[in-house]
Amino acid sequence: MTPSARGKLLWRIADLIEAHVDELAELETLDQGKSFKTGRFGEIPASAEQFRYYAGFSTKILGQTIPTSIAYQPAGKQIFAYTTREPVGVVAAITPWNSPMLMAAMKLAPALAAGCTVVLKPAEETSLTAIRLGELMIEAGLPAGVVNIVTGFGEDVGAALTAHPDVDKVAFTGSTEVGKLIVRAAQGNLKKLTLELGGKSPAIILSDADMAIAIPGVSRGIFANSGQVCVAGSRIYAHRSVYDEVVDKLAATAGGMTLGHGLDPKVDLGPLVNRKQADRVAAFIDEGMSDGAEIAVGGRQEGETGAFYVPTVVTSVRPDMRMMREEIFGPVAAVTPFDEVEEALAFANDSPYGLAGSVWTRDLSSAHRVAAAVKAGTIWINCHSYFSPELPKGGHKQSGWGYENGGQGLENYLETKTVCAVI
Ligand code: NAI
Ligand code: MG
Repeated sequence: MTPSARGKLLWRIADLIEAHVDELAELETLDQGKSFKTGRFGEIPASAEQFRYYAGFSTKILGQTIPTSIAYQPAGKQIFAYTTREPVGVVAAITPWNSPMLMAAMKLAPALAAGCTVVLKPAEETSLTAIRLGELMIEAGLPAGVVNIVTGFGEDVGAALTAHPDVDKVAFTGSTEVGKLIVRAAQGNLKKLTLELGGKSPAIILSDADMAIAIPGVSRGIFANSGQVCVAGSRIYAHRSVYDEVVDKLAATAGGMTLGHGLDPKVDLGPLVNRKQADRVAAFIDEGMSDGAEIAVGGRQEGETGAFYVPTVVTSVRPDMRMMREEIFGPVAAVTPFDEVEEALAFANDSPYGLAGSVWTRDLSSAHRVAAAVKAGTIWINCHSYFSPELPKGGHKQSGWGYENGGQGLENYLETKTVCAVI
């Protein structure tokens, strides 16, 4: 296809996602559990925006002409050198269950803009929106075979894709554990990899923070989507002068949230994706409590059916506790006091992860100093979990390889070819 035709196709996919926003949001709620409004007003429109953003790139993928200074240039001849950009080839996109449609869109849009073909394997827990998106892509005019959607379990279908010799690149979002398995599986033909892995993101509240902004912002940062968010601000460090206020107000916010069926419009938080995940969250909390952690609010599952875990605020935690080192992926905020900013930074950076973090302050210099000192792929100042297709997103340390979104997100799907000619 011409670049222009690719761009128009991506734009049509975006239009069709928007035309079916209610249906897709409902499917996501039924499949994943999240509140309908999260999909309807957040993740599904954001998925359409991914396609629109990368639609514009299709016609702007450019090589360069490069003046050279090669010493052994033959007398009387010239050198003409240029680069072209080529699609990397066949992409295996493997996505998780926390924000299924958006995670698929974040991979499909740049891959198609670059001219790649894709085999998409959605998470076994949440395949419905990917399948519906496949139908919409056919309706938009996608040529047969360009996107292939294969459902199935990670251990067999996912593993087969990551080891397959005809797959050129794997774009993965999920656990760090599986990310490491994929690195090994990709060895055979040295696939290109982008890995968006786990996180344990800090939120640092300085003494001068505007609490009217910080409390709802930090709360949204951890409790949105019931904490099933890779960048969830699960480790909250509050200056000792505001520590009690942070714990009290965060606990009040958490305690005031309505749990229930995601399709009920009054509901803030739906269930976790499944019982296994709710049990996993419970295991982290139980272990933390027997280790000395204290519950300010929550700390229990709720209901006979479903997989509800009540929004939870934990205190008296220590940096070595498992719940402070591993990704819980549930609605659990742990609050720790600090005296000096350096201490907060030491806490924040004491993690194998480096996905994201936030700082809450009225002081510009402090904000940017903390932003520079926290080792993570994204730092938010007076906000948390703000995303847009223009903003590169990726992990430092064990949170991943490479970046999605922005111009860098497109680079993952392109190779460079240098052509050097004696003329
Ligand atoms: P997972 O990493 O196993 O699943 C993510 C995707 O990888 C799914 O599509 C799955 O089918 C696939 N997969 C699993 N094993 C694979 C393999 N050997 N080869 C290729 N693909 C494979 O995550 P899981 O087990 O669903 O959740 C466990 C924990 O992982 C969660 O509690 C959470 O802490 C973390 N997680 C983090 C995510 C993030 O965005 N940071 C997303 C999902 C899970
Ligand atoms: Mg797994």
